[in-house]
Amino acid sequence: MAVPGVGLLTRLNLCARRRTRVQRPIVRLLSCPGTVAKDLRRDEQPSGSVETGFEDKIPKRRFSEMQNERREQAQRTVLIHCPEKISENKFLKYLSQFGPINNHFFYESFRRGPTMWPMLECSGCWQGLYAVVEFCQKESIGSLQNGTHTPSTAMETAIPFRSRFFNLKLKNQTSERSRVRSSNQLPRSNKQLFELLCYAESIDDQLNTLLKEFQLTEENTKLRYLTCSLIEDMAAAYFPDCIVRPFGSSVNTFGKLGCDLDMFLDLDETRNLSAHKISGNFLMEFQVKNVPSERIATQKILSVLGECLDHFGPGCVGVQKILNARCPLVRFSHQASGFQCDLTTNNRIALTSSELLYIYGALDSRVRALVFSVRCWARAHSLTSSIPGAWITNFSLTMMVIFFLQRRSPPILPTLDSLKTLADAEDKCVIEGNNCTFVRDLSRIKPSQNTETLELLLKEFFEYFGNFAFDKNSINIRQGREQNKPDSSPLYIQNPFETSLNISKNVSQSQLQKFVDLARESAWILQQEDTDRPSISSNRPWGLVSLLLPSAPNRKSFTKKKSNKFAIETVKNLLESLKGNRTENFTKTSGKRTISTQT
Ligand code: GTP
Ligand code: MG
Repeated sequence: MAVPGVGLLTRLNLCARRRTRVQRPIVRLLSCPGTVAKDLRRDEQPSGSVETGFEDKIPKRRFSEMQNERREQAQRTVLIHCPEKISENKFLKYLSQFGPINNHFFYESFRRGPTMWPMLECSGCWQGLYAVVEFCQKESIGSLQNGTHTPSTAMETAIPFRSRFFNLKLKNQTSERSRVRSSNQLPRSNKQLFELLCYAESIDDQLNTLLKEFQLTEENTKLRYLTCSLIEDMAAAYFPDCIVRPFGSSVNTFGKLGCDLDMFLDLDETRNLSAHKISGNFLMEFQVKNVPSERIATQKILSVLGECLDHFGPGCVGVQKILNARCPLVRFSHQASGFQCDLTTNNRIALTSSELLYIYGALDSRVRALVFSVRCWARAHSLTSSIPGAWITNFSLTMMVIFFLQRRSPPILPTLDSLKTLADAEDKCVIEGNNCTFVRDLSRIKPSQNTETLELLLKEFFEYFGNFAFDKNSINIRQGREQNKPDSSPLYIQNPFETSLNISKNVSQSQLQKFVDLARESAWILQQEDTDRPSISSNRPWGLVSLLLPSAPNRKSFTKKKSNKFAIETVKNLLESLKGNRTENFTKTSGKRTISTQT
């Protein structure tokens, strides 16, 4: 099989060993005696359980229950920048003075490259060891804050601000010698990942391994909720009843380690306070300022919050107010967690989309495995990017996978319309005039009778979209069938809730063509696998690994100089990774770490 790029791995002898059962990944999570963290070893989690908190294929909890539980947990939690060497026991003993601790873990944060945050390169104050400590009671945080002082230096003046983000210093620098074990927030190196994939027993095994390696860990998920909770504290200075909710891939079960943190400032509680019914002849209203539109209100709120984060938010840097976008937002980097954050408000539909994806991700164990592989494949071939542009987004790719799974016979996923018919009165939901009703109780959805393998589904996915009539048809998960395109956008994926909108309006014809060419090529590669599968003693990459390698420079779609440059760059990256330098395996783009293009 003349698969481009294959020779590279063959020469590097990555796959020369016997293909046996997938080796257990090395445990890299912190084990805290006496805390919950010891039970959270990533490799022992059943697929799908890590970020959602459910153990079976069908989660018991609704999305809203899961969100409320994690939010409450985050409100009892603090973030502490620790000395590099610290005794875990002494640390816990010290903190226990303020109240019993339910759970804790340590992680290391890395300094960003000089192009991202040049002003911080010299200070280095965000780099280092952090502890996430969850108290049993919220009141403990008040006690800890009362025992904490605002630092002062001769050169600078601190703006006094009592947050839940602390800095722990040693009184006696020489007394602490031990290092704690810290949880890794990054995916495995490319070399290790390719090895794992090559040792897998089957393509199904490879897809499940990829999912396991890239899905958000329990700790990473906790850190995401904590970060939202810290931002909520800031926003509460203006809107005491606000809620900052995570949405998007951080919560929809499709997030990869390193993905951004989308947050939504929910002011509904503030608005609804007047809804408490009081008897009597009078109706009391708040005196408020009025602005001409909802959009202007959103812009004003975000503008003030952006200023607040910029001036007073510990660890919030690079604050950008992007208020003229279709969906106004404040973008910033939360340095201690390493998350690139997008804060929006008045964005309830996006939260509902996240809930819908959470349900689709939970309905069948094949869904997330397929979405992760397609996302990794698209990233590997630069079909997606962290920079906004004419490319396909991960959100669109997820919709394409869902649509494809609705088209199988028998279907693997139900249409959105059929989820609507299963809804009860409690599920009724209309947002800004859009019907967002669908069943929230997962136990009411019948499992699929379809037994197709992931290998077959992956191949058929590429075949399906490699031959899809994009010029005529649109993709529509509400009805689960192709429809005539209402306009001439190259790619038309109907927004499931705002049905007159196209979620992939930004995609150019050339990007779509690149997607189609690569899909055909990948279908062909998998077709070859059927007839030409390497033997156990063979030492060449196979299955998913072949798909993640750069395409042949002599293929039609890769004759452009740019693509060749990309292939050379990719090979260079792979060689770097084989030198064993883990940190070389990641490209840094727009403030977030993403796995480099060859995966
Ligand atoms: P990542 O690439 O992992 O960040 O995936 P993501 O799903 O989080 O995507 P992104 O950060 O771009 O957007 C966050 C969420 O906003 C998505 O999950 C959707 O719910 C919503 N969203 C993104 N793009 C669109 C769009 O074009 N239309 C609509 N209606 N919602 C969108
Ligand atoms: Mg996102």
